[in-house]
Amino acid sequence: MNYSATLLESGLLKRIETIKHLVGNTPIFPIKSLINKKGVQVYAKMEWRQFGGSVKSRPAFNIIKQAIIRGDLTKEKTILDASSGNTGIAYAHIAAALGLKLKLCIPEQATEERKRILKMFDVDLIYSEGNRTGVSQQIVKELYRKNPEKYFYADQYSNDDNWYAHYLTAEEILRQTNQQVTHFCSSLGTTGTFMGTGRRLKEFDPNVQLISLQPDSPDHKLEGWKHLATQSIPSIYDDKLADGTEFVSCDDAYKMIADFAKYEGLLISPSSAANLVGALKIAERIDHGCVVTVFTDNAAKYSSVVDEIASKHRT
Ligand SMILES: Cc1ncc(COP(=O)(O)O)c(C=O)c1O
Repeated sequence: MNYSATLLESGLLKRIETIKHLVGNTPIFPIKSLINKKGVQVYAKMEWRQFGGSVKSRPAFNIIKQAIIRGDLTKEKTILDASSGNTGIAYAHIAAALGLKLKLCIPEQATEERKRILKMFDVDLIYSEGNRTGVSQQIVKELYRKNPEKYFYADQYSNDDNWYAHYLTAEEILRQTNQQVTHFCSSLGTTGTFMGTGRRLKEFDPNVQLISLQPDSPDHKLEGWKHLATQSIPSIYDDKLADGTEFVSCDDAYKMIADFAKYEGLLISPSSAANLVGALKIAERIDHGCVVTVFTDNAAKYSSVVDEIASKHRT
């Protein structure tokens, strides 16, 4: 039986409606042991608890949904983008659920875990040299330029449907903190999480402080994070939105993974741990407030990092 054909006959939009409740609506985790300051709360959204497994499920779903609504993405077209990690995996889940084809350019140095997951979803993979997503972006741009009618080019770095997806993230934060949030911080990759969540929180209350987080060195190992001074800046980024910036070291993030598992009970990814390091720095500086960040994903796709940390911090 050809399941994809049946699915497409029943209509892409109908199918979108049936899976939309699986995206977003993530729980918020209250940090207890790692902060001991009366009057200051720290929370993190558990973003792996959704279809597609990470914070990137939100933009991937919204980009695809809006493209279908506009008629830019039809069943004849192939979704095309550059991604080495979570966006690609989120596209893969959603494309499979909708019976759509997906072509991704990923750096050849992407981890075997990622390549294996994408292959399981039957994604058409092309590899770019090295480990820079910028190179992958050039390759997909060229493919699209040569054959625009064949593809829907999702272009997560320039697509407003990326950051706009995070208006919902902000709505959830407002609801889950009883509108008490005073500070929001997160990393900058495509910058969609920070831009969208930040814009909506500022609309709600211009006094909410938005702190963007960056790695403290250009050669960092924080998956999904950009060091803005040395990397290309996504066109969806507005440098006037942030009230401040914190720099986070990879060593601090790795140590946080060990501490968080031991004292709070969750095994989080390097990116999530680095976001938490940033949130705790903000919490240290203030006497009263509610600091919120996101746990982008859990440690499931980072077994080599977990092995390294376990051998160093659990001897
Ligand atoms: C693990 C991880 N952390 C952070 C980010 C950055 O999120 P954004 O692209 O919304 O800036 C990403 C993006 O892919 C990611 O995969």
